[in-house]
Amino acid sequence: MRRIALRLTLFVVGLALLTGCATPVVESGLDARLRDLIETAGLTGDPARGRDLPEISDPVPQLGMQLFFTMALSGKQDAACVSCHHPYLGGGDAIPLSIGVDADQPELLGPGRTHPEGPLVPRNAPTTFNAGLWDRFLFHDGRVESLGKTPGANGADGYGIRTPDRPWGYPDVLAGPNLVVAQARFPVTSEEEMRGFDFGNGHGNGNEVRNALTRELLAEIIAAGAPSANWLPEFQRAFASEADAATLITFENIAYAIGEYERSQVFVETPWKAYFEGDVDALGEAAKRGALLFFQTPAEGGANCASCHSGDFFTDEQFHVLAVPQIGVGKDSGLYGDDDWGRALETHRDDDRYAFRTPTLLNVEVTAPYGHDGAYATLEAIVRHHLNPEAAVAAYAFDQLDPSIRVTNAVENTQRALGQWRRLRDLGYPTVTVLALDDGQVADLVAFLEALTDPCVKDRACLDAWVPGDGLADPDGRRLNATFSVLP
Ligand code: HEC
Ligand code: HEC
Repeated sequence: MRRIALRLTLFVVGLALLTGCATPVVESGLDARLRDLIETAGLTGDPARGRDLPEISDPVPQLGMQLFFTMALSGKQDAACVSCHHPYLGGGDAIPLSIGVDADQPELLGPGRTHPEGPLVPRNAPTTFNAGLWDRFLFHDGRVESLGKTPGANGADGYGIRTPDRPWGYPDVLAGPNLVVAQARFPVTSEEEMRGFDFGNGHGNGNEVRNALTRELLAEIIAAGAPSANWLPEFQRAFASEADAATLITFENIAYAIGEYERSQVFVETPWKAYFEGDVDALGEAAKRGALLFFQTPAEGGANCASCHSGDFFTDEQFHVLAVPQIGVGKDSGLYGDDDWGRALETHRDDDRYAFRTPTLLNVEVTAPYGHDGAYATLEAIVRHHLNPEAAVAAYAFDQLDPSIRVTNAVENTQRALGQWRRLRDLGYPTVTVLALDDGQVADLVAFLEALTDPCVKDRACLDAWVPGDGLADPDGRRLNATFSVLP
């Protein structure tokens, strides 16, 4: 931290010299307090520091971008990864619950994307931005898990990665080199996301067999492809190899390339980081006050956010019960199957029921709606939920939701989640503290969250490096050319 203090001083002196100003800029009391908190928390300001992450201009991420945008990887050729993870939509889909196959207009993304039966995916699509910064778990319930959990490794630490294809605690030998690549093997096997409800039926029982067959068939689709299909040169270029399609166009290589594309989505150049680098004015006063609230404990007058949203990536990568309203089709939980037990679906522990992974807060400004099921439309609303889950649930307007979102037992399911929150709180589990912040303090917290945005994620020209342009081949003619009814 001394280094930062020194850099701040140098910056201030430099500024004074440059402007010829006699009185050097004096740090405010806010800055001094914030520096203490930063020091105590051991932050560096740079969540990507020391990580081995690809550049988008590298050949493998370029192939990954082509694959991420092709609908040929879905059973009905009508959904792509990008259907739910578009760079212009903060790396997500900007709707509460995702819509994959059978969308009314497959290429319409974001608000306005509809499905005849309403969204069938049980959860909100997290951003793919900064996917290479996770070290422990992917998915809201952590079902892709690094067994080593080595900081900075993104799962690539030699201890193996557990996936839904393997029993609890066992590594999946097919997982690939890191968490992001391991995750990329699953959306295509999910009926409502990409596989479709007819594809690969009659090929035996059990997830493992089904997934293996799906993978093979998908590789065939790509190899045989639509009439214009010509993936081989793209794979040969990416992997610098002359090998044939059977060797190169494997699902393992597909997942690897997609994963490398996602891992190249590093968006960490935030005002918060600039502040660490010596630019005291990178944060406004409100954001600085918000930062104090964020890092301070309730005893110090703070909101304790950093107890869970910890470290430079703003997450402890653990699971907590917040009782965010439970909406949508749910995930095979509870009496009617429309509840979502979160982490407990993996661990089968009662105390993990309704626990979800702490999200990162980097770029959270552009990833609305919020919560594991997108129940809250605004940052202010999800922040207020944290400050008093009971009051927030009581005020939640289930009847104002988009009518296509299923809410059959949503009120009861949410009450169960709230009961679990109370139970764990009384047992002494770390959880959110009920706090009476005034409106100004809530606004300060939101201002701080907005200072965690890399300007690139709000700039289409900057993001275009991650969107295939005319110069990049569309090898099967199935590239999703997104249209938007509302562009954030
Ligand atoms: C129908 C929409 C949809 C499609 C298509 C889709 N995803 Fe997702 N994605 C989601 C949802 C919803 C989740 C969260 C699921 C959960 O946690 O249970 C998710 C989770 C993820 C995550 C985990 C992020 C994190 O922070 O844990 C990554 C990475 C990801 N998807 C990448 C992909 C890739 C790669 C593809 C294509 C192979 C893809 N997705 C296709 C909706 C989709
Ligand atoms: C006990 C741990 C914990 C504390 C303390 C905590 N959070 Fe969270 N936060 C979570 C979890 C878990 C979620 C996800 C809940 C879900 O998915 O249903 C979340 C979600 C969020 C989200 C939504 C992110 C997204 O991508 O959906 C924001 C914003 C947020 N928290 C900000 C804050 C702020 C600000 C504070 C302090 C007032 C705070 N959190 C305190 C655990 C915590």
